[in-house]
Amino acid sequence: MSGPILRVEGISKGFPGVQALKDVHLEVRAGEVLVLVGENGAGKSTLMKILSGIYTKDEGTITFEGQEVELTSPLQAQELGITIIHQELNLMPDLTVAQNIYVGREPTTGPFLSERKLNRQTAELLQRLDIHLDPRQRVGELTVAEQQMVEIAKALSFNAKILIMDEPTSALTDSEVETLFVLIEQLKARGT
Ligand SMILES: Nc1ncnc2c1ncn2[C@@H]1O[C@H](COP(=O)(O)OP(=O)(O)OP(=O)(O)O)[C@@H](O)[C@H]1O
Ligand SMILES: [Mg+2]
Repeated sequence: MSGPILRVEGISKGFPGVQALKDVHLEVRAGEVLVLVGENGAGKSTLMKILSGIYTKDEGTITFEGQEVELTSPLQAQELGITIIHQELNLMPDLTVAQNIYVGREPTTGPFLSERKLNRQTAELLQRLDIHLDPRQRVGELTVAEQQMVEIAKALSFNAKILIMDEPTSALTDSEVETLFVLIEQLKARGT
């Protein structure tokens, strides 16, 4: 597709006592990285939450893959292909990497959950993304950067076409930031 995958026009959003967004426009193309910069309270997170179905906009239109869409819930946005990774990561520390990625969607053998299939499909996903983590490791034992990789893998396991990250580098060291940027380059190359 040659046009933008996502087009946002005239988005406004108010909260009691504050106009967080006023007439926002932006376009994103497949394989493009767009960075939002603004001071504290500028409305960055509010815009990202609207685009991921968490908040509803007061005004404006969102066009995704050429069709106007109403984003009504995070699940619906995710099903369309728009996924957000929050600043506060949302993983369960006592579960493994694989269990976190496929929670609620675990593969089964007959009526039983299949840990073996789960770990195998996670290993395949991580390999495709060139993420070097053990599917069986507990997430609580990972560094923040590694946990973020798990979040990214989880987002992409839903076939995310647009991946939104809110302040993804704020808790990372310089070398971890480099690793994140390498992964972002790979996602770009795939058209995410
Ligand atoms: N759920 C909410 N209820 C009321 N006001 C809110 C809500 N969410 C955000 N706001 C207000 O909207 C404005 C924009 O906030 P937002 O969090 O989008 O900014 P931001 O650019 O992400 O800031 P930061 O850099 O601090 O993360 C702020 O004035 C904030 O207080
Ligand atoms: Mg914010």
